[in-house]
Amino acid sequence: MNFSIKKICCIGAGYVGGPTMTMMASKCPDLIFNVVDINETRIASWNNEDLSKLPIFEPGLEELIAKTRNKNLFFLSNVKEAIESADIIFISVNTPTKTRGLGAGKSSDLKWVEASAREVAKYSKGYTIVVEKSTLPVRTAEVIGKILNSAKTNSNREEISFSVLSNPEFLSEGTAIKDLDNPDRVLIGGDNKEAMIALSNIYKAWVPEKKILFTNIWSSELAKLTSNAFLAQRISSINSISAICEVTGADIREVSRAIGKDSRIGSKFLDSGPGFGGSCFKKDILNLVYLAEYFGLIEVANFWESVVEINSWHQKRISEIIVKKLFGTVANKKLVILGFAFKANTNDTRESAAITICKNLLNEGANLVIHDPKVNPSQIEYDLKIKSTKSLDNDNSSFDQQSGNWEYVQSIDNHEIFNNAYAIIILTEWAEFRNLKWKLIAKKMVPPAWVFDSRSIVNTIEVNDAGLKLWRLGNGLAD
Ligand code: NAD
Ligand code: UGA
Repeated sequence: MNFSIKKICCIGAGYVGGPTMTMMASKCPDLIFNVVDINETRIASWNNEDLSKLPIFEPGLEELIAKTRNKNLFFLSNVKEAIESADIIFISVNTPTKTRGLGAGKSSDLKWVEASAREVAKYSKGYTIVVEKSTLPVRTAEVIGKILNSAKTNSNREEISFSVLSNPEFLSEGTAIKDLDNPDRVLIGGDNKEAMIALSNIYKAWVPEKKILFTNIWSSELAKLTSNAFLAQRISSINSISAICEVTGADIREVSRAIGKDSRIGSKFLDSGPGFGGSCFKKDILNLVYLAEYFGLIEVANFWESVVEINSWHQKRISEIIVKKLFGTVANKKLVILGFAFKANTNDTRESAAITICKNLLNEGANLVIHDPKVNPSQIEYDLKIKSTKSLDNDNSSFDQQSGNWEYVQSIDNHEIFNNAYAIIILTEWAEFRNLKWKLIAKKMVPPAWVFDSRSIVNTIEVNDAGLKLWRLGNGLAD
């Protein structure tokens, strides 16, 4: 089959759909990319003239949007039109963990994927390649295929036909543009070789052919879940060792460096931190757990579930250490939280360790003052489910009234945020937290004042010289 691709549609303009299509549009100027979303506010933000107001923050994204938007890249709300004209459709919608019903708490909620497949079934014309870009449970392609093919038989539209492919995305937030520009691999799973070649031709515009892997569709779906599970497992492993460091006098940074030199282990993903966050690690592992349980592989399920359990335990452990160091109580004490995003260089807070740790401290009655360079206060309010003391909204119905309080501070430049604080807690590794003027800051705080560094980014000598007490994750020789 000689299949020529001219128009691409992407359903879902989120952290994956937006940057991925932007990169493709920049590399393939002769193709048209229509990115659609049911969330009209999000589409409006993608179309905002002011590029600092794009819905997601990602280094390098603004420049690429400026080059491509309204040239061969369009952000639209008209799903029907974009599907009708597309030769290839990427499904890039959210797949969070189900919160109710069968498989609640573990399996992925596929209602957005199903809705997308139904839209494709309804509006597509002729032959269309449908690509799973979202991370999906193994064998979801079968479900998508059934929905698409039922449209053909039930609506007497004999002229329509489909190929379903899996093309999972491996970008990391904060480095999405770099990852998309130079991916370790592009994975394409399917059973229709022509369709796989057609999709790979888009990537070949900038990705070397040897990095493009073809597999069967189920291997591709499972490889994505496995990749995230292995990465998350490394973080839980190193974080569990950080707890051993703290009681034995070892130092986690030295341990990481030493084991990372083993080429079989490698040095990446060995930074101990406050626990993995982000929208995917937990949900993808739980998905794997659900799959294993479904097939009666209980030991396998337990093995992977422990990765998530260690992560939750680790966040609780950090919260408890903070309370214990501050003489067993943080009630009515001002604590400065530096960083709320789940990692640096993103405005995403989904599953951020900061949410759990802040909630635990608020539950102990602390008064938190929170600063993050890219997360806005309304997002923090949504995550904490506790209203800021500065909130303008008078409706308290969905917020917890019993705990301590919090407020957001826009800038740390004038150091006012540190006035009368008992502790500073660093939860995200933003560059601007690496070189703080500790001597000036120490003068503003209540002695004995603490710095809790969960990301190992402060200059320890300067903190100590300023007379501050320092706790660093995984440092067995600290106070
Ligand atoms: P997201 O929530 O940021 O974006 C998903 C978008 O899909 C939303 O804007 C939503 O409004 C839209 N949507 C939902 N149903 C729709 C429909 N029927 N029609 C049109 N639009 C619809 O999610 P995300 O972070 O972009 O993740 C998307 C998928 O990619 C998930 O499966 C995730 O696991 C996977 N993934 C995410 C990342 C990441 O770093 N965030 C990386 C790799 C893979
Ligand atoms: C992760 C994977 O790295 C991507 O390959 C994948 O595409 C994506 O999930 C997905 O499927 O959503 P992401 O969650 O964006 O990407 O970010 P990571 O860099 O993996 O970080 C995840 C969490 O682990 C963060 O909270 C980060 O701070 C933490 N982390 C990471 C550590 O604590 N230590 C490390 O050494 C690395």
